Amino acid sequence: MESLSNRMTTLNSMSTAAQTAPSNAAKSAVDMHSLMAPVAHEMNLVEEWLTTNLIDDSPFVSELLKQIFQAGGKRIRPLVTLLASSASLCDPTIDVAHSKLSRLHIILAVLTELIHSASLVHDDVIDASSSRRGQETVNKKFNDKLAVLLGDLLFAQASICLARIMNPVVVGIYGQVLGDLCSGEISQMRGQFSTVVDWDAYFQKSINKTASLIAAGSHSGAILNARPDNVVNALKDYGVKLGLCFQIVDDVLDITGTEKATGKTVGSDLKNGLITAPALHILEAGGAPGQTLAKLIKDRSVQSDEGIAEALELIRSNGGVEAAMALAGRFGQEGKDALNVLPESEAKTAMIGLVDYVLIRSS
Ligand code: FPP
Ligand code: MG
Repeated sequence: MESLSNRMTTLNSMSTAAQTAPSNAAKSAVDMHSLMAPVAHEMNLVEEWLTTNLIDDSPFVSELLKQIFQAGGKRIRPLVTLLASSASLCDPTIDVAHSKLSRLHIILAVLTELIHSASLVHDDVIDASSSRRGQETVNKKFNDKLAVLLGDLLFAQASICLARIMNPVVVGIYGQVLGDLCSGEISQMRGQFSTVVDWDAYFQKSINKTASLIAAGSHSGAILNARPDNVVNALKDYGVKLGLCFQIVDDVLDITGTEKATGKTVGSDLKNGLITAPALHILEAGGAPGQTLAKLIKDRSVQSDEGIAEALELIRSNGGVEAAMALAGRFGQEGKDALNVLPESEAKTAMIGLVDYVLIRSS
């Protein structure tokens, strides 16, 4: 299956943009409430759909669905989908039919969150995770079999949404995403406990498992709005770069975050043998810290409480977090730059602010 990365500009062309972290002014301007403002009404409809409209014949299943969505989540994917759809609307004097957000954009945002949630329910089985969004995972509360089936049920709900959109190009994009998610997970699994420094493999895996879905949301609205290729491609590029930025910050939060803020167990990536961006930096730099970290990973010491504490401290005290954040900042800047082709709008401004939000998020 052709992966998303094969269709995007190569990562080797990453610019060396100076911006690595949002300025203080940007930080104070970034709050989720203001980022949602341009699409607040539509975000409420998405929320209503997810928390009250998802019902199943079985009251037990309906209750589980309700619990999954009422536990919250940042809703970044539906937000990106709606903001990008809004930023790519047509000028009403040129094309009135595509000048307003419609029911189709809401469904697009819902389906993007449904696929995300379904993949997390499956991911928690794969990672044997016990907490998500501050509550017990389905696999922990019940068992793996039930979690797999519930994830499948969410994918089925997403397929129904996709059918309602009735656009074959969008069906193809989301079909590709499902394949990308699985490929990303498979390559991550195959790289477990490997200490070989392979940035290309890391980027490819991150594009597949994280950026692909965000990018689908960011450019499908423009397709529904009948926008030209340069606009569609720019929005796809924004989504890929935002997704990479998001994944790297996620990697960092696994090292610097708190369980209270992230709703996840700190250090679980490394405990599971996943070599994330901060760890890759330390391994790449070599020397005593790199060698010690490699040994802790290879002999599986990271699976013990003492081993993981030592590994996390090594990464924190040798600049792994700062290097990863600088990388996230560069991708973030490239995502912002991709939006240059779009006319100014409140939605475009919010998309730029969303990059800063992702860079400073703590959960
Ligand atoms: C979170 O990763 C997981 C994902 C972003 C995607 C997982 C995808 C799958 C399990 C495949 C989905 C299946 C189908 C049928 C499409 P993480 O473990 O790094 O993040 P976490 O810390 O939030 O758990
Ligand atoms: Mg996981």
